[in-house]
Parts: sequence; C-alpha cells; structure tokens
Amino acid sequence: MKIRKLQLQETPPYTLLLLADPSRVLIEAYLQQGDCYVCEENDEIIGTYVIVKLNDETTEIKNVAVREDMQGRGIGKKLLLDALRTAKASGSTTVEIGTGNSSIGQLALYQKCGFRISGVVKDFFVNQYEERIFENGIQCRDMIRLEISV
Ligand code: ACO
Ligand code: ACO
Repeated sequence: MKIRKLQLQETPPYTLLLLADPSRVLIEAYLQQGDCYVCEENDEIIGTYVIVKLNDETTEIKNVAVREDMQGRGIGKKLLLDALRTAKASGSTTVEIGTGNSSIGQLALYQKCGFRISGVVKDFFVNQYEERIFENGIQCRDMIRLEISV
C-alpha cells in the first residue's frame, strides 16, 4: 500500500471523494484550495484524503474515504495518520476535521487517532445540502468539529 500526492494532470478519485461528501460543488472547491492524496494497492486507488491549509498554523482534513469493499481494515486510520504527518511537514501545528453528528463510526475513528472535539456548527448540513442526510437512523444536521496538535 502506497500513499502519494495526486499530480495536477491526474483526475481526482471522485467516486471515493463522493463517499465522504455528497456535494460535488464543495469537493471541487476544496480540491482547488488544497492537495489530494491517494492510497494505491496493485495500481488501484483504494483510498484518498484532501487537506487544505487554512493559515500558517492550521490545516483541515476536508475529505477522507476508503473504497467500500476495503473499509474496516485500518486503511482509514493510516490515511489520517499520513495526513497528520503531511500537515506537520508543511509547518502546521494544528489539524482540524469536521463530520456530521450522525457519523458515529467516523467520530470514533477520529478520536482513536487523537482528535478532540472543539466545537459544533449547528445546522451546517441543513443549510449547506439540499437533500436531507440520514445515517445510523439519525438525521445529520450539525457539524462536529475536532482538532489535534501535531
Ligand atoms: N464504534 C466504535 N468504533 C468504531 C465504530 C463504532 N460505531 N465504527 C468504526 N469504529 C472504529 C473501528 O473500530 C476502527 O478502530 P480500530 O482501529 O480501533 O479497530 C476505526 O473506527 C475504523 O478504522 P479503519 O478501518 O482504519 O477505517 P476505514 O478504513 O473503514 O476508513 C472511513 C474510515 C474513511 C470513514 C471509511 O469508512 C469511509 O470511507 N467511509 C465513507 C466516507 C466517509 O464517511 N468519510 C468521512 C467523512 S468526514 C470527512 O471526510 C472529513
Ligand atoms: N450506533 C448506532 N446506534 C446505536 C449504537 C451505536 N453504536 N449504540 C446504541 N445504539 C442505538 C440502538 O440501535 C438503539 O436504537 P434503535 O431503537 O433505533 O434500535 C438505541 O441506541 C438503544 O436503545 P435502547 O435499547 O432503548 O437502550 P437501552 O435500553 O440499552 O438503554 C442506556 C440505553 C440507558 C444508555 C443503557 O445502555 C445503559 O444503562 N447504559 C449504561 C448506563 C449509561 O451509560 N447511561 C447513560 C449515561 S449519561 C446519563 O445518564 C445522562
């Protein structure tokens, strides 16, 4: 398994990126602002993450996704830890990530990687997305913000 930066001329892995974020418009926006990394196995892309530098000290992980048939094998954790190393190497001291109130597995994973909850953006998903989103039988309404020092 190899993680590398996507080159400018390469097509971003939209199918994967859309697993983490249903908005193609938002995905295009943060791909413009940041860097996309891909994880490959046998020359196939099986995971991705996108990081955006918010200021000199802070990087945000905007998207992290693993191909559905490869989930639950530790690849997401490896991608997050790689994103933290990349952010630190770029001079950041804090890394932020946000996810929905209904994303129970993601909240578990981020905290297992050391992230701590820093805030809540109420009604973020109600205001930003046209369709209502449900996960684990819960409506996704609020964005839980988490951060870690690197
Ligand atoms: N309760 C407790 N722990 C849980 C739960 C739960 N309900 N669900 C998952 N976990 C834990 C697992 O036990 C595991 O921890 P462990 O290493 O201690 O066993 C961890 O969370 C999952 O780790 P991985 O196997 O590394 O994760 P995976 O490879 O499946 O990747 C990811 C995680 C990226 C979230 C993947 O499931 C995915 O692509 N999902 C769809 C896209 C998505 O939702 N992306 C995040 C959106 S938010 C954002 O992008 C900023
Ligand atoms: N992911 C998604 N859904 C989950 C998860 C999970 N990891 N864990 C539980 N749930 C859901 C179940 O699916 C179920 O939902 P459903 O009705 O849609 O199927 C629901 O949570 C559980 O419902 P009940 O069966 O009614 O809950 P239970 O009778 O087990 O009572 C309680 C819950 C009180 C938390 C019990 O487990 C308990 O006593 N735990 C120990 C004490 C405790 O932790 N109390 C709360 C501390 S905080 C406080 O007291 C203010």
